[in-house]
Amino acid sequence: MNKICIIGASGKLGVYMVKHALARDYEVVGVCRKKSVDKLDEFKDRITIVPGATNDRNVIKKAVEGCDGVLTVLVPWGNNQYSSGTAKAVLDFAKEGARLVFSCGWHISQDGKDVYSTSFKRKLRMATWVGKFFRVVDIYDQEMATRLIFNGKSRWTVVRGSDLEEGESQGLPMWSAHVGDPILDSNITRRIDFALFMVEALISDDLIHKSPAIGWMSNVLGACLHF
Ligand SMILES: NC(=O)c1ccc[n+]([C@@H]2O[C@H](COP(=O)([O-])OP(=O)(O)OC[C@H]3O[C@@H](n4cnc5c(N)ncnc54)[C@H](OP(=O)(O)O)[C@@H]3O)[C@@H](O)[C@H]2O)c1
Repeated sequence: MNKICIIGASGKLGVYMVKHALARDYEVVGVCRKKSVDKLDEFKDRITIVPGATNDRNVIKKAVEGCDGVLTVLVPWGNNQYSSGTAKAVLDFAKEGARLVFSCGWHISQDGKDVYSTSFKRKLRMATWVGKFFRVVDIYDQEMATRLIFNGKSRWTVVRGSDLEEGESQGLPMWSAHVGDPILDSNITRRIDFALFMVEALISDDLIHKSPAIGWMSNVLGACLHF
């Protein structure tokens, strides 16, 4: 892995991914909205920035050119197919054989076998309804985006996070193929570690065509047994 593209580089997750990627000496191209370019000021001498909307096909085509890996923050903002437009552009323009790693939430299910708590389902229904009513968030479009990815033939991984918090790294999060697995006994992940998992996934062939649900294991004994 030499050159990678980070789509959504100026967001909270994106900035952590930029740091982890630079620590691995990857050449980094970052995509972010024009108005957010200054959020990447601390890296401006070390990364190439392609400003623009992440669902702008010309922006993505230019940014992913020659990249061995692409890390995409899939966000469901607005009501103009932002997520699915971004995913489609990455799938269409990333070079053949590139590792494509996408981020989303636990609510996305690849095979319908995830087991969600009642409170999770209630919160999701509420967020979906409120987001759609105020036209600020389109969860259905994020689902559409991941359907495009799951059906694609590229070397993809969809990393699914739950509640995120700030703080020092606790190391690589635990992961399971399904939400509801006892390994994921905490739905909280440090954002810095979500980013670490995304960057590690670039070189983890075991994760190709998988949608790991990540979380933290608060039970120390359980974590030891897992290893
Ligand atoms: N936050 C959570 O609790 C949570 C839980 C589970 C999973 N996730 C996943 O984590 C990832 C993002 O997390 P994050 O913490 O990095 O979020 P974030 O800091 O809010 O930023 C996410 C991205 O969205 C962009 N963005 C913000 N407002 C926008 C708008 N109105 N239109 C277009 N783009 C906009 C940001 O760009 P700018 O820098 O230009 O603003 C940034 O690239 C997503 O994949 C999400 O599904 C989050």
